[in-house]
Amino acid sequence: MKKYRIAAIPGDGIGKEVIAAGLEALAVCAQADGGFELDVTHFDWGSDYYHAHGVMMPADGLAALKDFDAIYFGAVGAPEVPDHVTLWGLRLAICQPFDQYANVRPARLLKGISGPLRDVGPADLDWVIVRENSEGEYAGQGGRSHRGLPEEVATEVSIFTRAGVERIMRYAFRLAQGRPRKFLTVVTKSNAQRNGLVMWDEIAAEVAKDFPDVTWDKMLVDAMTMRMVLKPGSIDTVVATNLHADILSDLAAALAGSLGIGPTANLNPERRFPSMFEPIHGSAFDITGKGIANPVGTFWSGQMMLEHLGEPAAASRMMRAIEAAMADPSLHTPDLGGKATTAQVTAAVCELLKQSGSETM
Ligand code: IPM
Ligand code: MG
Repeated sequence: MKKYRIAAIPGDGIGKEVIAAGLEALAVCAQADGGFELDVTHFDWGSDYYHAHGVMMPADGLAALKDFDAIYFGAVGAPEVPDHVTLWGLRLAICQPFDQYANVRPARLLKGISGPLRDVGPADLDWVIVRENSEGEYAGQGGRSHRGLPEEVATEVSIFTRAGVERIMRYAFRLAQGRPRKFLTVVTKSNAQRNGLVMWDEIAAEVAKDFPDVTWDKMLVDAMTMRMVLKPGSIDTVVATNLHADILSDLAAALAGSLGIGPTANLNPERRFPSMFEPIHGSAFDITGKGIANPVGTFWSGQMMLEHLGEPAAASRMMRAIEAAMADPSLHTPDLGGKATTAQVTAAVCELLKQSGSETM
């Protein structure tokens, strides 16, 4: 039987609760499939580790992760540790060296969930946002001088490379090509950001020539926020810079009903390094320990992990279980306006997965 090695990094806050739920559902899913096993190793890295050791993960952490087939990640961020320390010390410390340059974020208004937009149903909101995940505004270039003086200066330099933009553009065109509508929107702010993002537009036009069957258009990021709210049905696949897509994906998640259901794949498409799968939400200390975190974003991220591992039948089982659970409002956690607990949603999804084991796929 095939065995995949998974590194689980629950991290902080509700990350621990949702990864436990996600691993439970993935184990049931693998059992229902019968064709593969998941061999999970836990890593206790995060803010607790930081308090004990002064670092978010050990110096040889990447070497420890390198040979896994995938990483299943919860969340980072804790009230007593500055956010840039937790982020750069763990999440970006994995994403960047492992060159997980394609951050893929589907957003769908699932049946049974009512989003904040009037008269918008599941058919009108089925998007995938492709976020450039290795450079741009998150390149980490810059510095601070004259700290504390009136002359203090800080720079935060965005980096756009032809290689970096071209590879994410190709990834996005290919993804759009594989979806029924074959439609891509390239988002920039190339009116104001007249260097890097003008290059984005030029590279988009060049790459588009290799995908003649994909229809594409361009949008400035501010106008894109309006289009997402006012004409959601006019959007399918979206590609944007690291920061722009970060912002758009929160909007997308909110329009799809909750940040709690959104999944993410941080992919190294060439598979030189393991890819990492995580819910889009953060550590949510306000609800940590209450047992009400929505595990659906983690289940859906697990579904993306199964796709990436090459288990499409199991991935579709997982997606159908998520859809069936969300169609029942009694299984909605408080972020979706319901009263269900993490444990109830997890038990229901596991039960649906078990039932799917007796069906022929
Ligand atoms: C996300 C998050 C992170 C990001 C935070 C935690 C720094 O918002 O994954 O979208 O901006 O990359
Ligand atoms: Mg974000």
